[in-house]
Amino acid sequence: MDSDPPKPKHDHEALIFPEGFLWGAATSAFQVEGGNIHSDWWEWEQTVQPSEKRSGQAANQYELYEQDFHLAKSLGHNSHRLSIEWSRIEPEEGRFDQIEIDHYVKVLKKLKELNFTVMLTLHHFTNPAWFAKKGGWENFNAPNYFERYVKKIIPEISEYVDFWITINEPGVLIWGGYLAAKWPPQKKSKWKALKAYWNLSQAHKKAYKTIHKITPKTRVGIANNLSSFDTFHHHSIREGIAEWFLDVTNNHFFYKLTGINTHDFLGVNYYFNNYISFNGETRFPSLVDVSTTKKDVSDLGWEIYPEGIFDIIMDLSDYHLPIYITENGLASTNDDRRVRFLLNYLKEIYHAIQTGADVRGYFHWSLVDNLELADGFTPRFGLVEIDYESLRASSASQNKTQSRKPRPSSYVYKEIIKHNGIPHDLLKLLGHGIKVEDVLKEDIEE
Ligand code: BGC
Repeated sequence: MDSDPPKPKHDHEALIFPEGFLWGAATSAFQVEGGNIHSDWWEWEQTVQPSEKRSGQAANQYELYEQDFHLAKSLGHNSHRLSIEWSRIEPEEGRFDQIEIDHYVKVLKKLKELNFTVMLTLHHFTNPAWFAKKGGWENFNAPNYFERYVKKIIPEISEYVDFWITINEPGVLIWGGYLAAKWPPQKKSKWKALKAYWNLSQAHKKAYKTIHKITPKTRVGIANNLSSFDTFHHHSIREGIAEWFLDVTNNHFFYKLTGINTHDFLGVNYYFNNYISFNGETRFPSLVDVSTTKKDVSDLGWEIYPEGIFDIIMDLSDYHLPIYITENGLASTNDDRRVRFLLNYLKEIYHAIQTGADVRGYFHWSLVDNLELADGFTPRFGLVEIDYESLRASSASQNKTQSRKPRPSSYVYKEIIKHNGIPHDLLKLLGHGIKVEDVLKEDIEE
């Protein structure tokens, strides 16, 4: 008779994360609040975007924030990343709206009442319309306008905030507004892109100093969109050089401009793995469109490549600063894919920590389905599903409770948080055809 097969060494053990690890989700004001009528994006949407892609009421988190925070709590989160909307706080140049400031005080107070560690973003893509009319980030005075807003808002809310993100993804903001030019202000110009990027770096530096002056013991950084790069053709020297160049410009340039000493931690938003190819048609390399290859991609055509987050983390470790994954998530209407995504990316983060990286938190993008910027509401990133039709109907009838539904992946995440890591049982979900309901029966029925 055959003897029993040998048991794997770590059976029943979990992949445990460091003590005090922050587990949460992230959102941005414009993408979930709704009604941000004083923002440049709102104005742009009215003229450029088809009606179904305009933010409108979005997920109406402006009114439903308590419900969302209670949900996050019930799903085990201990931290939350969100942003405040500059255009609400300063709707006209130099006029600060106390009603909106009080609103954000209430929002942040609620998070603290529920014991969340709070990471707050001061600028997440959108600007006040008045600021955009003055030339937005191209205006050399832009850092001063930003600093005036920072000086006003920080003393009002500092007691409720643990981590500050001055600016979300400066590089993507420039790419979207000036290089691909598919977002406001849609000005395709390398020179304007450079000016705006420089001004963003100066705005960060000023904000860093101001925040530390007002609240010395706090931690300040940015959320940087970092991409992994690879050559498309193995052994191509030209592609290798291009890979190095893109890594420096995309992943490190902002730290060089600001000086790394204006970052108390490194915020990593990881979504993209890129292949660089010289296809012979131009003198310059291009990025391969992965949706035309056999790679596994999200509903937005972005490659699912968990190994990339390991590479990025190890690369950043040379700065010797604490690292927080400030965003990572999947656009998919198929939640089984989100479960696999979550487990695979967290496994890589775990391995990076084992290899010596100082990663201290993970914020999944996103808590609830959100407006995916210019792409509208079709891409679904939420751990919690928004039923937009019932949301609109319930807003009209004042019955504002039926529109949010945690997806199975949110229970998987809850289980991970409960164990401060990935319990071995959950790894079964990486097998095909195994349903979350089978592994987490009780949790889901709760
Ligand atoms: C941004 C989010 C966006 C997410 C998914 C990040 O680059 O910070 O605002 O929704 O990616 O595209």
